[in-house]
Amino acid sequence: MSDNMTAATDARTAPVAVWQVLEKLSKEELIEWRVKPIANKLSVQERNLDIGFPFGWYPVLLSTELAVSEVKPLRYFARELAIWRGEDGKPRMLDAFCRHLGAHMGHGGKVYGNLLECPFHAWRYSGEEGSVKEIPYSKSIPPRVTRKCTRNYPMREMNGLIWMWYHPEDIEPLYEPVKLPECSDPEWSDYDICEWNIYGSLQNMAENGVDTAHFRYIHGTADVPEAELHWGEYDRSGIVRAKMGTPKGVVDGMITSKSQGPGQNWVRFTGICETLLIACITPVDEDHIHARYLYTQPKAQVEGKMARVAKAIIADVNKQLDQDKVVWDRQQYQPKPVICNGDGPIAQFRIFYSKYYADGDGKPRHLQAAT
Ligand code: FES
Ligand SMILES: [Fe+2]
Repeated sequence: MSDNMTAATDARTAPVAVWQVLEKLSKEELIEWRVKPIANKLSVQERNLDIGFPFGWYPVLLSTELAVSEVKPLRYFARELAIWRGEDGKPRMLDAFCRHLGAHMGHGGKVYGNLLECPFHAWRYSGEEGSVKEIPYSKSIPPRVTRKCTRNYPMREMNGLIWMWYHPEDIEPLYEPVKLPECSDPEWSDYDICEWNIYGSLQNMAENGVDTAHFRYIHGTADVPEAELHWGEYDRSGIVRAKMGTPKGVVDGMITSKSQGPGQNWVRFTGICETLLIACITPVDEDHIHARYLYTQPKAQVEGKMARVAKAIIADVNKQLDQDKVVWDRQQYQPKPVICNGDGPIAQFRIFYSKYYADGDGKPRHLQAAT
């Protein structure tokens, strides 16, 4: 057996292909590396990333990050946004720039009942209608803003997260996000969270799950895992049975990944220790994704004899994302990639994923599949 093959039998052992980038980093440097902007970034056009954003439900904040009557600025989907939680406890979101004189309402705006009040001249907006309801110093409201005059976003709150619906043509939600029972189960732990900025596209990230061959070379997985795939209307799932490296050797594990649309992704790991990963991946710009991995595990395992193994699983998955990030940060999107035998169902994935792009005539943009 060659040295490379020996290394590949334990996913936790260097070197995998990108190890030379990661091995120099201390624990603190690694945490910083995960979120820090990259140097010498190519343009969106040079990397073929000007492909628009796929529509769907996306997580934007943890529920705990937005208090009642709090306003925050956000940037997702190349838009400046203002999010607030009304006195009724519900989150709402608008495009940030005020239709009056353009103040950014995420900075200094305040909550008035359930309305968002602009910091500049106190025009008050409805999140449900995207219209102006009150102008305290004026006898009347200009008719152009009494009806929808700015973009508002359908919102949901579930699984400890606040979700926004994004559609490039401002179309109402076409499906609903999925409630995961573990997230409200008192027997499961609070989220353990790891955060990254990924300088690439959501589609390239999503394709990773069906890119069978990369597991060995980027992640050092012992065998190229065998996946059973299901493709639904807006849902997709894959079951992978893989050898998992542990401090006690390699064991058989099962990884069930599911997605509801492009923005809701979760993975259940079984085999060593039960783990639910909620992968929050939301585009900031066409070449920038804000990624947060939220993990929950049964408290009995986190606090019991399995505590070290439970932590090791989380560290191992985070490490896999670190390894992929080295590639994703610099990857060019190939609209017509050259695929070889053994590559996994990349063409099938692209045909499925193309349904999330809208081009005005309702026709998906990426039906030219890989050849
Ligand atoms: S700019 Fe917003 S109220 Fe004037
Ligand atoms: Fe990967």
